[in-house]
Amino acid sequence: LRRPTAEPDLTGRKVVVSAGGTREFLDPVRYLGNRSSGRQGYALAKTAAARGATVTLVAANTALPDPAGVDVVRVVSTNDLRDAVFAAATDADAVVMAAAPADFRPADYVGTKIKKTDDTSAPTVTLVQNPDILAGLVRSRTGAGPVIVGFAAETGDSTGTVLDHGRAKLARKGCDLLVVNDVSGGKAFESAENAAVILAADGSVTEFPHGPKEALADAIWDLVVPRLFH
Ligand code: CTP
Ligand code: CA
Repeated sequence: LRRPTAEPDLTGRKVVVSAGGTREFLDPVRYLGNRSSGRQGYALAKTAAARGATVTLVAANTALPDPAGVDVVRVVSTNDLRDAVFAAATDADAVVMAAAPADFRPADYVGTKIKKTDDTSAPTVTLVQNPDILAGLVRSRTGAGPVIVGFAAETGDSTGTVLDHGRAKLARKGCDLLVVNDVSGGKAFESAENAAVILAADGSVTEFPHGPKEALADAIWDLVVPRLFH
């Protein structure tokens, strides 16, 4: 599934990739987080650089080596991620949101460690919604704006299949491409391999049955390239 030769088809292009999972701190030692390792985003950054792009990788809490020749910006929370992605996206040709931003954050941050009391009571954590970065990028896009790619980790449930949820999300987000991963039973997390279906706003569907995250990254760039603004 690897591309036989690396075409420099992103030469002169600027791309932004987000990776990893955000953390929303409750107090100085505790946070709400998620299982994203950042591997798919790192694979996207690495393959874009190999294809000639100038790459900014916005990395949220990842423990992976910096890809060679890539500008890495480190962030913690979804608000940080939004600021960094929007700053890098101003003159970008493509933005790929491979990160898993927390949808919610604690309404209040307590500056000192929350203590346990002797009784059996427990605190209630009130959450508020974080900004939707992908939807914000689509809303703020102008005519020559970047190609925008989202990811969706879905499980099938009583209301629809993985693909049903993917199609609905693509329509809701308004991005150009949506990479849909089936994460039933924890598939995809921490793994070097991935399976996905890539849905395009024009209705086309590209299946990526199973393979290394770098091969999926190349398949995604193959779909981004013809959609770039010339
Ligand atoms: N995303 C984002 N900002 C958020 C949440 C998600 O930019 N606050 C992006 C992700 O990086 C991903 C896409 O939106 O590219 C879809 O993320 P997902 O969590 O599947 O979508 P949600 O709209 O948050 O829906 P759900 O309720 O299924 O979590
Ligand atoms: Ca979400």
